[in-house]
Amino acid sequence: MCGIVGFTGAMVKSQDISSILLDCLSKLEYRGYDSAGIAVISNDRVEVRKAKGRLSNLTSLVEREPVSGFTGIGHTRWATHGEPSDINSHPHTNVSGDIAVVHNGIIENHVAMRRWLEGKDVTFRSETDTECIAHLIDFYYEGDLVTALSKTLQKLEGSYALAVVCRNEPENIVVARKDCPLIIGRGEGNNLLASDVTPLLEYTREVQYLDDNQVAKITPEKVEILDLEGNVIDLAVSHVDWDLQSAQKNGYEHFMLKEICEQPYAIDQTYKARVYGEKLDLGEITKTVKDARRVVIVGCGTAYHAAVVAKYAIEHYSRLPVEVDVASEFRYRDPLVTEDDLCIVISQSGETADTLQAMRIFKEKGAKIIAITNVVGSTVSRVADHVMYTQAGPEIAVASTKAFTTQLMCVFLLTCALTKDEQKQKEMMEELSTLSQKAEAVVCRQEEIQRFAARQFNKTKVFYFGRQSDFAISLESALKLKEISYTHSEAFAAGELKHGPIALVDENTLVVASCCHPKLYDKMDSNIKEVKARGAKALAITFEGNDAFEGVADEVFQIPKTDPYFAPMLSVIVTQLYAYYCSVNRGNDPDHPRNLAKSVTVE
Ligand code: M6R
Repeated sequence: MCGIVGFTGAMVKSQDISSILLDCLSKLEYRGYDSAGIAVISNDRVEVRKAKGRLSNLTSLVEREPVSGFTGIGHTRWATHGEPSDINSHPHTNVSGDIAVVHNGIIENHVAMRRWLEGKDVTFRSETDTECIAHLIDFYYEGDLVTALSKTLQKLEGSYALAVVCRNEPENIVVARKDCPLIIGRGEGNNLLASDVTPLLEYTREVQYLDDNQVAKITPEKVEILDLEGNVIDLAVSHVDWDLQSAQKNGYEHFMLKEICEQPYAIDQTYKARVYGEKLDLGEITKTVKDARRVVIVGCGTAYHAAVVAKYAIEHYSRLPVEVDVASEFRYRDPLVTEDDLCIVISQSGETADTLQAMRIFKEKGAKIIAITNVVGSTVSRVADHVMYTQAGPEIAVASTKAFTTQLMCVFLLTCALTKDEQKQKEMMEELSTLSQKAEAVVCRQEEIQRFAARQFNKTKVFYFGRQSDFAISLESALKLKEISYTHSEAFAAGELKHGPIALVDENTLVVASCCHPKLYDKMDSNIKEVKARGAKALAITFEGNDAFEGVADEVFQIPKTDPYFAPMLSVIVTQLYAYYCSVNRGNDPDHPRNLAKSVTVE
């Protein structure tokens, strides 16, 4: 999704303004984009440079046409209104070119605004919804950018994180947010902004998370935060302890491989954040959990798959009914939620638009909300009653890996808390304490999976199936493969095979069968034989010591033995690695899959 950055003030490490802005934008590349641009106040002018395609195109343009100055904004665009092109790239300016705007989000009433402005003889240059913001600010500008932006916001419907510069106010950047993240970084002699925290880490660890309907005036020495009525707001400064190293590749070819390999540590950290001397300590969450009569869990994409895994574990161990849904469906289906429900939202970024809307429904119904998120200070973390942070560190690759397995650790810890049987709870806690080592054992065998992928990467269809939580992990495995290898992959419950999917099975098919529920080995054995009989190749993932699938599947990968309900945390590492190596073998860039964005902050 689009990214925005801004910087004003004293230069850092003898960089110039364009290299600071380009550096910050490079830290947002992982979010996915199709064009980029910057605007710098330079020699009493607003100089704009923008280019379609990779950031390197913009860098080359800036090398050919340099800009100097102390105040600037930048943007990576993921096209929504208007194709990716130089003209449609941000920043957008007013007619005279004195005001420049970068924007994340969608202006829903942009057609009406465009007509209104055209009626006032404004000529538009781009097809974007954003351009109307630059013209509206111009319309309202009478010498104070904050006032002009505040008046503009009253005309806008939709979502936005905005940063604006103006020739007449050469040291100022004015920003605003509604339903899209915007973070201000507090430097020394300079201040910054970005749509997520990673670009800021190089420059500062002290940040302020702007709230909805707030406007800020950022100057080199000061940040003034206001509500829409112009009242000054005292916004807390938070310290970010993510280290810069964790947002760099550290010798790995791709962030995705690095993040897969970091999972044992991240799982361990997430466990240790909530367990003291082998005792589960969820703090205030413990009471909320105790009163639960029913559990509702929502998320999108991978986070939703963590919810599906959670459903199987929680229902099995706590005997509470669990409803799960993708947030985009949940928000529109008039869901049945009461104040007695325990609502859990899962989101790596904590900024996913649909997930936030689902949370609003939970709030309206008076239900208690536990958020599982990776980003301290994210919107999800601020709206929820309680937060469980995944200790994954920054996840840069678009395809989620370590965020997922740490989300699983959080839901398994919650499962323990929801389980009434103390003996069972003790056994579960013991098992959870072993999972990071077991994950390490899987990661260490990555070369076996690399060899398997080298043999099987050009299958045109890959189907993942399993039963119960093995079905849940099949969903995530299929998503991972399609995201980065662009292979047609699907997941289904193994019992559904004969109800339709088997019609697609032929010799171009690879089937990955997750077989980690011992009681269901026989059923999975039959399913594997059924696809093999139709020419498919089969990989079975099962527990160490279970040789039942040898000679049945073409390949068997044995993972360390664990509780079947926790096995997804280990089996998914196998399928993440398979997806990664397929992507690389196909010549794709797994860190920047086509058409995808890291954080989906619009519908
Ligand atoms: O930040 P979130 O966890 O809310 O994001 C949800 C999905 O957009 C995300 O999991 C997406 O499916 C990833 N690309 C999965 O790899």
